[in-house]
Amino acid sequence: MKTRITRSPRLAGKTIQAGGVVAFPTETVYGLGADAFCEPAVEAIFRAKGRPQDNPLIVHLSEASHVEQVAAQITPAAQAAMNEFFPGPLTVVVPRHPDLPLTVTAGLDTVGIRCPDHPVAQALLQECGCPVAAPSANRSGRPSPTTWQAVAEELDGRVDAILKGEVAQIGLESTVIDCTHSCPVLLRAGAISLEQLQEIWPAIRLASSSTREGPARSPGMNHRHYAPTARVQLIASPAELPPDHAAVSAYIGLDRDGFPGRPRRLCVCENVTDYARQLFHFFRVCEKAGISRIYCQSVPEKGLGHALMDRIRRAAEGDPMCSNSNYGQKRV
Ligand code: TXA
Ligand code: MG
Repeated sequence: MKTRITRSPRLAGKTIQAGGVVAFPTETVYGLGADAFCEPAVEAIFRAKGRPQDNPLIVHLSEASHVEQVAAQITPAAQAAMNEFFPGPLTVVVPRHPDLPLTVTAGLDTVGIRCPDHPVAQALLQECGCPVAAPSANRSGRPSPTTWQAVAEELDGRVDAILKGEVAQIGLESTVIDCTHSCPVLLRAGAISLEQLQEIWPAIRLASSSTREGPARSPGMNHRHYAPTARVQLIASPAELPPDHAAVSAYIGLDRDGFPGRPRRLCVCENVTDYARQLFHFFRVCEKAGISRIYCQSVPEKGLGHALMDRIRRAAEGDPMCSNSNYGQKRV
């Protein structure tokens, strides 16, 4: 398949209307979209990514008022979440509309909906005029792409088009909350922080990631994720970087000195927001440079730091050599 690379939301929208699969920018990461009501196109997303069939896709809408097309019911919690955070980096899980293909939701009776706050994503959604099912635009298990070039490296020849945009501003995926009950449950940490959610629902809690009872609430969290080819390891400070590994290692974090030996690549971030924006891109830069180990400095798990630490841990867990993960999930 020839992948068309374009700056035209119009062309990209027409491609989706014709049953094609199109990568596009959002404020979190790049997505890989198709008409949510066109089953062959949705199946093509799973094929292009090599995505496990049990992992549901988020449905993207140009505005919250379109939610009735894909949801059977808008619960009071979902309504409150949409009022507060749409458009923005939040995905709200609600009961699925019976007409929405089960392929999108991987057989679940719920659907995740999101309204991106990004001018190019918005232009695309308006051009195609349909709800767009879209996971992140990476091959399954790999770090999410934050640039159109990263999408091209992963998916060239596997998708119909790539809609070009700038670097994704947030760099980590949306927060996912289950709103099927009166008090939402946090399924995936993201750019909307737990503290922000607690302002509305003081009792909101994090879904247990280690429960082995019953089906996981967010199937994607069971899968191997965000892993570059290099080995990823968390460290508290640069002093922990083993000196004999420095020459083949990379470091990303907030501290700029205190290294026992100079790593081959350094990414010193200004703050946690900058760190989140750079993390996945840095993983890719290191891969290309043939780096074998990436040391990531830990940050306090508050605000965006919670999502950042979640992604680093999962990337570290993707490494079969790594034993310092605190996730109990089995990888597939
Ligand atoms: O920021 C984002 O959310 C990006 C952009 C493109 O919107 N999308 C994204 O999609 O990260 P994806 O497929 O890579 O991650 C979606 C996560 C997965 O963990 C999936 O299992 C979960 O959301 N999810 C989707 N629908 C769900 C549902 N009905 N119930 C529970 N979890 C759901
Ligand atoms: Mg993903």
